[in-house]
Amino acid sequence: MFKWLKKNVLKKGFYFFILLIILLGYFIFGRKSNDLHFTLNYEKNSKYLIENCRRDLGYLQKLTGRFYDVSYCVNFPIFENRRLNNILFNEVNSKICRYKKSNLKPNYQNDKFEFFSNYQTFSCGDDDSVSVQFQFLEKNLTKKNDFEFLQTYVFKNDKLVNARTFFKNTEIKNIVNLIRKKFVENNPKVKNINLEKAFPNNLHTLRNFVETENSIIFFYERGEVLPNNCKIVSVELEKSLINDYIHEKFKPKTKVENAVDSKPKVALTFDDGPDEDSTKEILDVLKENGAKATFFVLGEKCKENPELLKRMVEEEHEIGNHTYSHVNLKSASERKINEEIEKTNSLIASATGGYRPNLVRPPGGFCNKKIKNLIDYPLILWSVDTMDWNHKNADRTIDKVLKLTRDGSIILMHDIYKESAEAVKVIVPKLIEKGFDLVTVSNLFDSKDADLEPHNSYYNVKNFDLDIE
Ligand code: NI
Repeated sequence: MFKWLKKNVLKKGFYFFILLIILLGYFIFGRKSNDLHFTLNYEKNSKYLIENCRRDLGYLQKLTGRFYDVSYCVNFPIFENRRLNNILFNEVNSKICRYKKSNLKPNYQNDKFEFFSNYQTFSCGDDDSVSVQFQFLEKNLTKKNDFEFLQTYVFKNDKLVNARTFFKNTEIKNIVNLIRKKFVENNPKVKNINLEKAFPNNLHTLRNFVETENSIIFFYERGEVLPNNCKIVSVELEKSLINDYIHEKFKPKTKVENAVDSKPKVALTFDDGPDEDSTKEILDVLKENGAKATFFVLGEKCKENPELLKRMVEEEHEIGNHTYSHVNLKSASERKINEEIEKTNSLIASATGGYRPNLVRPPGGFCNKKIKNLIDYPLILWSVDTMDWNHKNADRTIDKVLKLTRDGSIILMHDIYKESAEAVKVIVPKLIEKGFDLVTVSNLFDSKDADLEPHNSYYNVKNFDLDIE
């Protein structure tokens, strides 16, 4: 009896031991960096990041991963210029590499970090020049503190310049005076500010600047100008004010106006429809304003609303293919992808008496080299993301479009939400009032004499092709 008990307890102890090993193994090896968890954190931290980013040039590249004890999620821009991309990528990369154990100060060596970046881009209208403003956020999860900093990069004629080389050193005082004056003008409610302390009379005050077509914008970290202010401060000076203080070689060249049709053009695009109510409302607004748009429709919705497709064609809008069932192209098989696209094209053709789409928009914007090789159509992405599906708020959609739209933009909305249809009622007349022609995607590319070819993806009309996995 006693023997039996001893044997059993031992046996149980053994199983318990095995279980313990498995559990330990799970905690040590099983809990890898989790993308979803990380994305959520990123959203949670979005209050730190720029709202309504200006992205005049380039397009967003997002990298997430883990390097030693830092999880990172960095947004940075990609441009046509390889040299420029390399410089920016190295800058971001070197920031992440700072967390390598051997680079950390001794009292930080066992800490865990998260690192985020977001950015804006600014064009001064000159092809070889662009400014980028980065915002970095470092969270020390062990010591529970955040560290945030700004940095701008200004490229002029393909070279990185800084405040010391860009501005005339003899004029720093004058520039600082202009900044102080403008700040007071823009912030009449701010009292008791010590301007000498907030904007010291030296290069430091000018260090984070960007150049736009008509102005120079200076940025200041949270708390730098106003100790209790939780916002990033920016001061924008018109070039007409500051031009004399810029080095001759960086001054804008006088532009020769283009004689060809130079009216700015944009393409409104609507995904995931057609929808019985919202699509109809949107078509009414477009008709009233003589505007054209592109509808990337889902095959399964076409079956329910063939009359809306017919109307789109009659009113000279463009219809694009958004697959049959909003399938994720990254995980679908080759056969499935072709089936989803061709089935949808056939449905559109039969509803409209023969109209066959020439464009595809991949669901979720998922696109890589394999998908591009596989799909025999140009893949149309976007440069202005309204996020209407996420916030379902007409005012935010309107705000985003009016702030971010530039000549050649492709704007992404969804014609299945009533809030998006509401937004369109304001957006269409406002864009026209601002001087934009609202055209279909194909017409946008035609008007700019830009290629639109199968096996390529396009973000806007000044597009270039990249193979990012
Ligand atoms: Ni979609």
